[in-house]
Amino acid sequence: MALLDVQNLSVSFNTNDGVVNAVNDVSFAMDAGQTLAIVGESGSGKSQTAFAILGLLAQNGMSSGSVKFQGKEILNAPLEKLNKIRAADIAMVFQDPMTSLNPYMRVSDQMAEVLIHHKGMSKTEAIAESVKMLDAVKIPDAAARVRLYPHEFSGGMRQRVMIAMSLLCKPKLLIADEPTTALDVTVQAQTMTLFSELQSEFGMGVILITHDLGVVAGFCEEVMVLYGGRVMEQGPTDPIFATPSHPYTRGLLKAIPRVDQLNAELDTIPGSPPNMLQAPKGCPFEPRCQYAQEDCVQSLRPLTEFAPARKRACNRELEELV
Ligand SMILES: Nc1ncnc2c1ncn2[C@@H]1O[C@H](COP(=O)(O)OP(=O)(O)O)[C@@H](O)[C@H]1O
Ligand SMILES: [Mg+2]
Repeated sequence: MALLDVQNLSVSFNTNDGVVNAVNDVSFAMDAGQTLAIVGESGSGKSQTAFAILGLLAQNGMSSGSVKFQGKEILNAPLEKLNKIRAADIAMVFQDPMTSLNPYMRVSDQMAEVLIHHKGMSKTEAIAESVKMLDAVKIPDAAARVRLYPHEFSGGMRQRVMIAMSLLCKPKLLIADEPTTALDVTVQAQTMTLFSELQSEFGMGVILITHDLGVVAGFCEEVMVLYGGRVMEQGPTDPIFATPSHPYTRGLLKAIPRVDQLNAELDTIPGSPPNMLQAPKGCPFEPRCQYAQEDCVQSLRPLTEFAPARKRACNRELEELV
């Protein structure tokens, strides 16, 4: 049985200006211990996909489709059931640690509270366990630093505190939403290494959400590329890097900063993401795509398997993308 099985997930928002179809027909499945990356530019629907899975959409949001966690349907499940799952089975790490850390509480108290509440530990046990977890995320001198307030940690260390906090209940699935975006490149790399190590130690499944295809290589086995709320390309990481099948994926690959060319100009994709209030009939990437033709304005071929485990949604044949 899959750890997480998402089928035809769609998310829409009612706004004063009309309906925003933020996520359209997203499907993927992952087993225990697997890693999946959801990649795309800002506004492509990455966070809302995660929020829908966890039942965390804003008031004006609606989701449809199916999300099964360990075989049980959880999409739009009652709050009580979702609260249990969110505490014990699925954890989420956000881009900005301050959205999850209380600035006025010592880290020790914040972490202990989770364990006292969800695991019924005593305060002493809970603090000992919290120190162990801070050790696991490689915070030096954790036994002393657990007493500090969040602002007394550097940005990178604060991100580690938050990762430690999300791992306290040993979740089976960790959803990390742009966890390294606010960090500098060196700290980013360290955080990704840490994720890999924690993953092999705890055996959890990880969904990594990022706009940077560069952090995916070497960490995620599967990639799903989103644009304008639709899946453009999906499949195993290595072949996608070797032979990207979608013009958008190619654009993202060219935009990866390289360590050996730090000051080189990056090949950003010209143009900007679509206005989701006037969702295009055809391919959302059409206005920015160098291979686009008339038919791309009118319709987009559905996501189709073109090689084992590899899928793409593009009207152009692979041979046309030269
Ligand atoms: N509460 C909301 N009401 C209306 N539109 C929303 C709401 N929340 C998100 N959206 C829209 O959903 C789209 C996808 O957003 P999101 O998943 O957050 O993007 P990202 O890929 O950057 O994480 C965006 O166009 C965003 O404006
Ligand atoms: Mg986001």
